[in-house]
Amino acid sequence: MAPYLRPRRLRENPVLRRMVRETRLSSDQLIYPMFVVEGQGVQQEIGSMPGQYRYSVDKLTEELRRVRDVGLPAVIFFGIPESSAKDAVGTASYDPNGPVCRAFRAARKDVPELVLIADVCLCEYTDHGHCGVPVQDPSGAYRIDNDSSLQILAKAAVAYAEAGAHIVAPSDMMDGRVAAIREALDERKMETIPILSYAAKYASAYYGPFREAAESAPRFGDRKSYQMDPANGREALQEVALDLEEGADIVMVKPALPYLDIIRQVRDMVDVPVAAYNVSGEYSALCAAFERGWLNRPATVRETLLSIHRAGANLILTYFAKEAAEMIRRGEM
Ligand code: PBG
Ligand code: ZN
Repeated sequence: MAPYLRPRRLRENPVLRRMVRETRLSSDQLIYPMFVVEGQGVQQEIGSMPGQYRYSVDKLTEELRRVRDVGLPAVIFFGIPESSAKDAVGTASYDPNGPVCRAFRAARKDVPELVLIADVCLCEYTDHGHCGVPVQDPSGAYRIDNDSSLQILAKAAVAYAEAGAHIVAPSDMMDGRVAAIREALDERKMETIPILSYAAKYASAYYGPFREAAESAPRFGDRKSYQMDPANGREALQEVALDLEEGADIVMVKPALPYLDIIRQVRDMVDVPVAAYNVSGEYSALCAAFERGWLNRPATVRETLLSIHRAGANLILTYFAKEAAEMIRRGEM
């Protein structure tokens, strides 16, 4: 029997395929993550993330011009202080002369077209590598204390906004940090600075290459007491609801690819923009396959980013942002 219904009719002609395409990615939705270090003239490739670099502020602004010129709207900065600047409570996170604050001031001046986002966390700045402050309980064991971390995170968010960040993005997963940051910003007349919260951030193996890049691996234990269990879906919706109650303006799911179901559920539940972080391990795993010739780079990048967008992410943080923007410009996306 010849079929009566033929979905293939709309797939025969390449122009028609473009016409009926449901999902289209725009450069306006991409955010490029970048790593800032101390020093001068530094542009050091990250071993586990081919094509991604740690930049000193001078080299960073050169790269930011290229980022702007390919049509990207926004970047997110991660600061990597000298290891001698690290302490138990992450004091260097709010140092106005640290690399990330200097990067915000320089970027505001040199590349005013870009939206600058500050990742707010303590793990790059603590000598133990945790995202909050450890306290010793009576048994002698260490745990990451929630409430004493909030003040420090709020100070860091204020420092970044004062240095020129347009948006602050807490990634620590302490309870109540969105409210603490909102209050601290508002007190200092920065009530117009949006908060992009890493609302549903999972305790993921896919952060491995980032921790090498940012020198932020925990020295003891793991992050499972504050980041989410990968087995949990409903809990992500609760995390998102709480961050919205506390005043988050944009909510993020992280990582992206193993959590496309969560991105979809969050998109269906909320009315604010939803972001997804296509993290370092997702990038590095694909790069390893590209290097071996096992996967075709542009085709795989396109399909990967489209999948995150199709799942419901309005904004995508991705190390592929520059090449994706170039593909979009050439009409290859
Ligand atoms: C720090 C932070 C991490 C990432 C973004 N902010 C790592 C972590 O929580 O260990 C991961 C980004 C990536 O893997 O690309 N709070
Ligand atoms: Zn952290």
